[in-house]
Amino acid sequence: MRIAMIGTGYVGLVSGACFSEFGVTVTCVDKDAGKIERLNRGEIPIYEPGLDKLVENSAKAGRLFFTTDLKAAVAEADAVFIAVGTPSRRGDGHADLSYVYGAAKEIAEALSGHTVVVTKSTVPVGTGREVERIIRETRPDADFDIVSNPEFLREGSAISDFMRPDRVVIGARTEKAREVMRNLYRPLYLIETPIVFTSVETSELIKYAANTFLAAKITFINEIADLCEKLGADVHDVAKGIGLDGRIGKKFLHPGPGYGGSCFPKDTLALVRTAQEAGAPLRIIETVVDINDKRKRAMADKIIAACGGSVKGKTLAILGVTFKPNTDDMRDSPSLDILPALQEAGAALRAFDPAGMHEAEKMLPGILWCETAYETMGGADALVIITEWNEFRALDLKRVKSLLKSPVLVDLRNVYEPDMMATAGFDYTCVGRVS
Ligand code: UGA
Repeated sequence: MRIAMIGTGYVGLVSGACFSEFGVTVTCVDKDAGKIERLNRGEIPIYEPGLDKLVENSAKAGRLFFTTDLKAAVAEADAVFIAVGTPSRRGDGHADLSYVYGAAKEIAEALSGHTVVVTKSTVPVGTGREVERIIRETRPDADFDIVSNPEFLREGSAISDFMRPDRVVIGARTEKAREVMRNLYRPLYLIETPIVFTSVETSELIKYAANTFLAAKITFINEIADLCEKLGADVHDVAKGIGLDGRIGKKFLHPGPGYGGSCFPKDTLALVRTAQEAGAPLRIIETVVDINDKRKRAMADKIIAACGGSVKGKTLAILGVTFKPNTDDMRDSPSLDILPALQEAGAALRAFDPAGMHEAEKMLPGILWCETAYETMGGADALVIITEWNEFRALDLKRVKSLLKSPVLVDLRNVYEPDMMATAGFDYTCVGRVS
């Protein structure tokens, strides 16, 4: 089997490398010649644990190639995956599909022999049909099938999510297309991964329904956490107590500063717009979007309250700025709202993140970036944990206390235990738990 992966962003690169690990010959295509050159030198443009080794091994084994030549890659492929970006369109919140449709046109011109054209990017319902129309219009003679095969990878654990997924969803119209997809995912049949075959439109909606459901689940526990603080209850015990009910499930019930990243904010907004236009508004998701937006500002207020009601003239030490750990991704990270709000309130900020600072520097001006977690703390009036990187879970608390001017710790990810922190002499604030 041979495939072409169009787009070497997060999804394209991870999927391409993983398919080649499955034994498929993969050619990854990108318009950015500099990026392709770097990939051919073995440089990985994104931070994803294990990806560099995977790319190196597959490239050495002659199963993974990088090129700007879309035509050659498509002509020899059994399946072509469209994995280009679908950012939020400015103004209306819809997904911007110009890259997807541009790719469809170029693919059409290069098709040769029967080819399955797969949308891998998260695309609104109806996109597959439009891709089909564009290809048919460009090349009325082409022999092809359209498939929707959304990915459910999480940044930071994308490789294991691909290799051992909970399920694979495939929306296809013909048996021939299903057969090609079955062959591509053959190794997953061996580990008995459920493969859900459905229509193209249903598959497209499954992706949005999954992401918006998860965003709602997080938002639910965040609101319960706020209620816990008022009632003196413990949100971790509530999450455990409800999560053990198999109908609810225990994952994605960890409270925090609100969801961020390249997927949930964009996908919730896009589905809200689609539903409004279809005349079946998703009021629950509209509310989720609104609550999550406001939560970030509320987190800044929480930090200010923990600092005695004002941060004017104070220095705050910030640990973690990425939207979650094990990634350098800053897209829609809660820190992008929280930190400017603190600066506006008069605080000076010193920050450290193990992988995100390079990106963050461009987006968050006026911050003193430090080399280590401890360097942020010297003489600071309070310490704030925004992202739960593992290295922040085991800080030397004695050292932290001796470095800080006052022992104020705001932990927006609940990585410490309130009782333990009280015993250690900290004035500790977290989310939904009190000591
Ligand atoms: C998410 C989904 O989890 C993937 O299944 C999906 O494939 C991906 O979007 C996508 O559509 O491409 P990702 O954005 O990488 O993956 O990150 P998550 O681990 O889902 O975290 C998203 C946000 O929710 C983060 O800001 C995280 O801190 C937050 N979160 C997550 C919580 O606040 N609490 C939780 O319990 C879980």
